[in-house]
Amino acid sequence: MIQESKARSYELVGQSARLRNVLRLAAKLGRGHWPVLLLGETGTGKELVARTIHRNGPGGPFVTIDCSSMVGTLMESELFGHVKGAFTGANANKIGLIEQANGGTAFFDEIGELPLDLQAKLLRVLQEKEFRPVGSLQVRKSSFRVIAATNRDLAKEVEKGRFRQDLYYRLNVVTLRLSPLRDRKEDLPALIRHFLEIYGNGHTVSGELLGLMMSYDWPGNVRELENCIQHMVAVNSGPVLHLQDAPSQLLHYHERRRAPQGLVQAAAAAAAPNGDEPEESFVTPVLPLAEMERRAIINALRYTKGDRVMAAHLLGIGRTTLYRKLKEYGIRD
Ligand SMILES: Nc1ncnc2c1ncn2[C@@H]1O[C@H](COP(=O)(O)OP(=O)(O)O)[C@@H](O)[C@H]1O
Ligand SMILES: [Mg+2]
Repeated sequence: MIQESKARSYELVGQSARLRNVLRLAAKLGRGHWPVLLLGETGTGKELVARTIHRNGPGGPFVTIDCSSMVGTLMESELFGHVKGAFTGANANKIGLIEQANGGTAFFDEIGELPLDLQAKLLRVLQEKEFRPVGSLQVRKSSFRVIAATNRDLAKEVEKGRFRQDLYYRLNVVTLRLSPLRDRKEDLPALIRHFLEIYGNGHTVSGELLGLMMSYDWPGNVRELENCIQHMVAVNSGPVLHLQDAPSQLLHYHERRRAPQGLVQAAAAAAAPNGDEPEESFVTPVLPLAEMERRAIINALRYTKGDRVMAAHLLGIGRTTLYRKLKEYGIRD
């Protein structure tokens, strides 16, 4: 909960074509009233996109309903509320989340986790726009926009009988699929800068660390990146974050990457400061990708003493790709 207020910027950061497309769609969808189904691995920004869609709409409350936490008998009262005396401990009337969302957006997070009995009740709310609080004889009304998110393959869940088909059709009107971070690494520099601004204190990232972060796959996506930067800022008083400040999963990855051929130091060397480059350029938080690539190539060629075949091998690219890039960056032996 560090710096909660600053952290709660609901801005979608990144400049990849995929993210720009999501932003464009979110703006468009905000103006409509269709249910939206957000698909994507955990940490890809589904909730943030839901908020962005909501923000582009007419307003009202934004209520998150975490379906993965809905277990036991209390969940029905969470969703629909209850009247005083409905069950032991119900000392007062309670307004449920469905009613709180009236006039705004209900965001059903991890909808794939919703138990079947509640799926039936939710379907009814979506169809009739009415529900009954636990212990109440009276029907109440709530009208809201529906956005649902899941990291599961809902169609498969339907096939397996774990998700109601009618509810699936109801939710799956417009689908937006969020790419994992590893498929849009162009977003990394801006995201790193963004989180350093939120959590850091003038912190920047060393070239070597940035190189590692760029090649890591981020299985936990943007959430993992955010946690990683929080971790590094917490353990390092700064101003420059180095490789050794990285959390263990990155360090393990770094070790694994280095292990197979002792040669791969070239990769590290590619990002590390050396005599020919101005030192301060390595403490800028972000290097343009093209510049990183250019430096990586120059360092690989230096390391292999100009052996292009070996350099291409170390860089993990084909020989023709290397030749093309040499031309592109105007690098000569
Ligand atoms: N494009 C982005 N720009 C800025 N922050 C992001 C972006 N995508 C995700 N985040 C942040 O990463 C974390 C995880 O995002 P979240 O929306 O909760 O993911 P999901 O719901 O898909 O698991 C949140 O703190 C969110 O603010
Ligand atoms: Mg989420």
